Amino acid sequence: MGLVVGPRLSAAGGVVISGIDLAEHLVPEARARIIEAFRDHHFVVFPGQALTRERQYQYARNFGEIEPHGGGGSPDKRYAVAHVISNLDKDGNPVDRSSSPVSNYRWHTDKSYHPVPPLLTMLHAVELPPSGGDTEFANTLMGYAALPEETKRRIAGLRVVFCWGASGGKSIMAMREDPPIDHPLVRTHPDTGNKALYLGNHAWHIRGMPESEGAALLEELLEHATQRQFVYAHRWRKGDLVMWDNRCLLHRAVANYDMGKYRRVMHRSVVRGTVPF
Ligand code: SIN
Repeated sequence: MGLVVGPRLSAAGGVVISGIDLAEHLVPEARARIIEAFRDHHFVVFPGQALTRERQYQYARNFGEIEPHGGGGSPDKRYAVAHVISNLDKDGNPVDRSSSPVSNYRWHTDKSYHPVPPLLTMLHAVELPPSGGDTEFANTLMGYAALPEETKRRIAGLRVVFCWGASGGKSIMAMREDPPIDHPLVRTHPDTGNKALYLGNHAWHIRGMPESEGAALLEELLEHATQRQFVYAHRWRKGDLVMWDNRCLLHRAVANYDMGKYRRVMHRSVVRGTVPF
C-alpha cells in the first residue's frame, strides 16, 4: 500500500498520513505529499512508527536544518539524534513539573524567543501514560481571521518582545542569558501569505507600549486564540509521530494524567525556520 493522506482531523487542522514507514529513505514524491499536507493542515500524524532517535533525525533532515537542543544536556542529546523530552528526573522517576512557568504545559510556539524561530517540531511517542498526556494545538491563522476588523487594525504592525522565562518574572529570566528579541504580533505565513497571531508563553510585552498594557493585550489575544473552536487535542498512541507548523500553531502538553506516577517519554526534533515577517 502506498502513502494515504486521510481527511482533515478538525476545523483547527491536522491530517493522518498512513502507508509510510518513516524509518525508510523518503522518496521525493512522498516528501512532496507530506509538505503539501503539512502546508494545508498544519500538523500531520503518522501512526505506528518505529524509529530510533538516529532515524528520526534522518527523517527530520528532509525538511531542513535540525536545531540542537538548547538549555544544556549532554552532547549525545544535542547532535545527530532526536532529543528526549519526558516527565522523568535524572534517576528516571516520573515528576510533575507542570506548574513551572517555563513548562511545555503553557500555550507556546517553540523557541519564539530566538531571532530565527523554528519552522516545525516533531514528536515521536515512545512511552505514554495509560490515558491522557495529550498535546493540544491552537490554530492562530483562525484566531487572527476571527478578530474584529477594528482589532486587526489596532494590532497591525505591533511587535512582540519575547524573552525566555518572561512569564516567570525577572528571577526566572535571569537563569538564562537569552537577550529579548522582537517579532511581529501578526505573522505572515511564508508558504501561503496568510496571517497568524504570533504570541504565547515567553511573549513579554509589546515594543513601544507600556509593559503592563502590552502584557495585558497579549493575554487577551492569547485567550482569544485558544478558544475551543480553534483547538485540536491529540490523544497519543505509542508510535505516533506528529509534526507541526510553529509558524501558525500554538501548542501545549496537557496535564491530564498522573505525572508523578506514570512515565511519558517523547523523542523530539526541531527544524530551523526563517525570520518572521
Ligand atoms: C513541546 O512543547 O514541544 C512538547 C509538547 C508535548 O510534550 O506534548
